[in-house]
Amino acid sequence: MPHNRTKDELGHFIKKLEQQALETAEERHPIYIKAGLKDVELILDVGCGSGAVTKDLAAHTNGTVIALDDSPDMVDTAKKILHDSKNVQICTGDAHNLPFKDSTFDVAICNLVLMWSADPQAVVNEMARVVKAGGKVVASLEPDFGGKIHWPENSRVDPIFAGEAIRRRGGDPHIGRKLRALFVGAGLEAEVGIGNQRIWSCEEDKASYMRSRDFYWNVLRKAGMDDSEIREWEEEYLKSLDDGIQLNFFPQFYAIGTKIE
Ligand SMILES: C[S@@+](CC[C@H](N)C(=O)[O-])C[C@H]1O[C@@H](n2cnc3c(N)ncnc32)[C@H](O)[C@@H]1O
Repeated sequence: MPHNRTKDELGHFIKKLEQQALETAEERHPIYIKAGLKDVELILDVGCGSGAVTKDLAAHTNGTVIALDDSPDMVDTAKKILHDSKNVQICTGDAHNLPFKDSTFDVAICNLVLMWSADPQAVVNEMARVVKAGGKVVASLEPDFGGKIHWPENSRVDPIFAGEAIRRRGGDPHIGRKLRALFVGAGLEAEVGIGNQRIWSCEEDKASYMRSRDFYWNVLRKAGMDDSEIREWEEEYLKSLDDGIQLNFFPQFYAIGTKIE
């Protein structure tokens, strides 16, 4: 994930994270309850980004959340966004080499981080190392864009959103299906599931697309499509939404790992 963003790019990224946090709340909150966040003392949020999701974590626990990111811009942003969250502390650090002693936390959690990590196995291993025996390592959402199901299809655009665009930006579009292997590889007892609660309505898909329209256009331009091709695809896509026939689903996997005593 690039750290050399312009001011504009940073602003767009922060907005996107805020929107994502809002749109995925119904998927993440049951996982927080399942992982028992409410009654633990110390939680580590790895790759906290702007802090939009950290805010939710802080609201779901009586304990303290330590939030960490390796991007100084993200850490500064999180400090601003979370300035009134009394049970959060924010620091800079690399998830591949966490600056904490073994067995420090009750829970180490990440959201949409493994897909962007250079070495996701090393990150899960580190999360397992810093958690106490009996504690939990949680990946609350890791999508699998390669597992996207939707209809009607578009042969030009579908492969872009099913993986090409993520790979071009250095991410792994198949991270979701790898979660079990990563957690078991870190010596954890792993429970893996799909966080999606439901399939969105056409109205929700359309509203979400319109909010992020610039982002989609940029992705398609970077994939080599010209504006007239994008316009043609968009017309077809919006029509299928207005006709109420478009179906979009891509699995959002979660994993809860228990560190064996
Ligand atoms: C897609 S954002 C998700 C942010 C936040 N967890 C959320 O869901 O809103 C991924 C975040 O992970 C951070 N990140 C990526 N690799 C990292 C690493 N090796 N160490 C720490 N943070 C990392 C990025 O800087 C970015 O803020």
